[in-house]
Amino acid sequence: MIPNYSGLQQLMYIKAGVLTISDKGAAGERDDRSGAQVKEILGHISAKVVSYQIVPDDKSRIQQALLEMTDQLKLDLVVTTGGTGLGVRDVTPEATAELLERTIPGMAEAMRWEGLQKTPHAMLSRGLCGSRGGSLIVNLPGSPKAVVECLEVILPA
Ligand code: MTE
Repeated sequence: MIPNYSGLQQLMYIKAGVLTISDKGAAGERDDRSGAQVKEILGHISAKVVSYQIVPDDKSRIQQALLEMTDQLKLDLVVTTGGTGLGVRDVTPEATAELLERTIPGMAEAMRWEGLQKTPHAMLSRGLCGSRGGSLIVNLPGSPKAVVECLEVILPA
């Protein structure tokens, strides 16, 4: 269960972006349940999702979207979902790594560690977390279940 962080309302207003990375999602062949899940959960922490995009598993398309959300829109938080595994087209961590100015390994490690208590597959996600300018970028796995499990771990921080 995602706790209620409404107390944060008085403290901050988070401008957020959600980036779903999926060939099928971008082609309109699959409903973006994971992106919808991220948006719903961010609503619980009073984040306002001001940008939402779906792009295919293509490094330059991913980087283009990330740069728009960070350098141009200057969002506080950019959450990506999908493309973190070992599928031949999975390049989200590679695309993200080139844009991060500082990595935050502890956030990604915490998500994997907690995920491992639920499924051994959690270790298959290569997702990164880090900052670019004033933006925090978080890579989440692509399933709605994983999105919930991972956000539960990092939202308290
Ligand atoms: N992490 C959590 N907490 N829960 C999950 O169900 N699924 C895993 C993993 N991380 C999972 C998880 C699976 S099955 C895969 S293949 C990898 O994330 C990568 O997923 P992605 O390629 O959709 O990003």
